[in-house]
Amino acid sequence: MAVKKYKMFVDGKWVSSHTGETWNVINPANQEVIATVPLADEEDARMAIMAARRAFDKGPWRKMSQVERGKLLFALARAIRDQAEELAQLETLNSGKPIRESRMDMSDAADCFEFYGGLADKINGDIVPVPDPNIFAMVLREPVGVVGQIIPWNYPLLMAAWKLAPALATGNCCVLKPAEITPLTALELAKLIKEVGFPDGVVNIINGLGPVAGMELAKNEYVDKIAFTGSTEVGKQLMIAAAGNVKKISLELGGKSPMIVFEDADFPLAVEWVQFGIFVNQGEVCSATSRLYLHDKIHDRFVEELTKKAKRIKIGNPLEEATEMGPIASEKQLNKVMHYIELGKKEGAEIAYGGKRLQNGELKKGFYVSPTIFTNVKNNMKVVQDEIFGPVLTVMKFREEDEAIELANQTRYGLAAGVFTRDINRAFRITKELRAGILWVNSSQPCFNQLPWGGYKQSGIGRELGRYAVEEYTQLKQVTINLNESPLGWYT
Ligand code: NAI
Ligand code: MG
Repeated sequence: MAVKKYKMFVDGKWVSSHTGETWNVINPANQEVIATVPLADEEDARMAIMAARRAFDKGPWRKMSQVERGKLLFALARAIRDQAEELAQLETLNSGKPIRESRMDMSDAADCFEFYGGLADKINGDIVPVPDPNIFAMVLREPVGVVGQIIPWNYPLLMAAWKLAPALATGNCCVLKPAEITPLTALELAKLIKEVGFPDGVVNIINGLGPVAGMELAKNEYVDKIAFTGSTEVGKQLMIAAAGNVKKISLELGGKSPMIVFEDADFPLAVEWVQFGIFVNQGEVCSATSRLYLHDKIHDRFVEELTKKAKRIKIGNPLEEATEMGPIASEKQLNKVMHYIELGKKEGAEIAYGGKRLQNGELKKGFYVSPTIFTNVKNNMKVVQDEIFGPVLTVMKFREEDEAIELANQTRYGLAAGVFTRDINRAFRITKELRAGILWVNSSQPCFNQLPWGGYKQSGIGRELGRYAVEEYTQLKQVTINLNESPLGWYT
């Protein structure tokens, strides 16, 4: 296959890095180079930041009506739908996710642009009564300005949509940096952004390494806000860098989300969702329900059913229609998953299923690993406490409701949590007790554009999606108009 040479998108133009350096993009299913992209350094990042700065300070974007901005977002959504199949193929080629899942992602990305296209002209400030009847007081909601956005490799186009759509709906200008290993669909999106007529500099998409180009976005004084999805470790570094000019910041970090299944649960339903909640997208999901707590009475039977299901998952070339699990997205991530599998064994956990890199036939060319189920774990083991970000589930028994809640909450993370029960009182009790930003009763992983997405504790700050993301991308300006005739009014 011919290696495609991409350029990056700055100020409405296609540019190389100023050094001419490029980065090889790999297909994780066979390790072949599929494309090259420019490798931006700090200097390239600064060029993109200044393009966004000019577009915000001097360009037509900020003065465009909210209705017009909304229409551009709808046009972008339509362009994504028109190209959905090509985009899905490219996403799978680059990230290793099964083609069926890529198709869903493309449709979800278009939905997200539509949601914010519709919201764009419904964002307003307030008129606020104050104690002086001769003061007319308003609160204006204004864009933050230039936003730097750094996204991960597990949902490349969808994460670009989650970041860009609310930022643009609220009138900001963006510099987006996709993960170095999965830059391609974001660059295809840039083509569509140009095609549908966004003004130059409103969206800039640069390719580069996190600690170099990404860090520049967090440090640069001309950037007003940084938005990030990725590891907690990098999130902490970005907070420190953002302090330089007191940037607004939102972080969607990792998780180690618990799922509690009670003895009264709809058993087959719970088995389905539990396996989906950890094995979808090869387990490379921030909200994966990776810690399973099973009531003592159902533990053995549940593990048995789950194991049967894991065995039946069709693993292979993600471009094939029937494939249910593809390769891990990179060698680095594969090594991390394998490291944790070995560590779990050393810590004394038992492998009920999987635990191996898959290397039979065609699979040996790629980064494949079997779905893995650890039983007999203790809550303080690293396999139970650390985010693995792969298809690795830990299973533990409990007897009492209080015990389950305590075990589930024993984590530094707090992105999502779930419970299976048919007892409505228990469902509500648990919903209030679990400390996470996303709570699922009788399912795992549903995600809607209308609802806030984000975590408690070290899973992040701020919320994406819904009306809630508007808070992250706007700032408030209070305006008072003095109608008092007498000088100094209320001071005298
Ligand atoms: P990462 O957090 O290093 O990478 C995510 C993004 O941050 C990429 O665009 C990367 O270029 C950028 N980045 C990396 N270092 C940076 C820095 N110093 N300054 C600015 N930007 C930086 O994640 P990585 O290394 O790919 O994966 C490591 C672990 O992170 C995974 O095993 C998983 O546990 C977690 N992770 C969580 C994600 C989530 O959705 N919450 C997504 C991706 C990874
Ligand atoms: Mg990293």
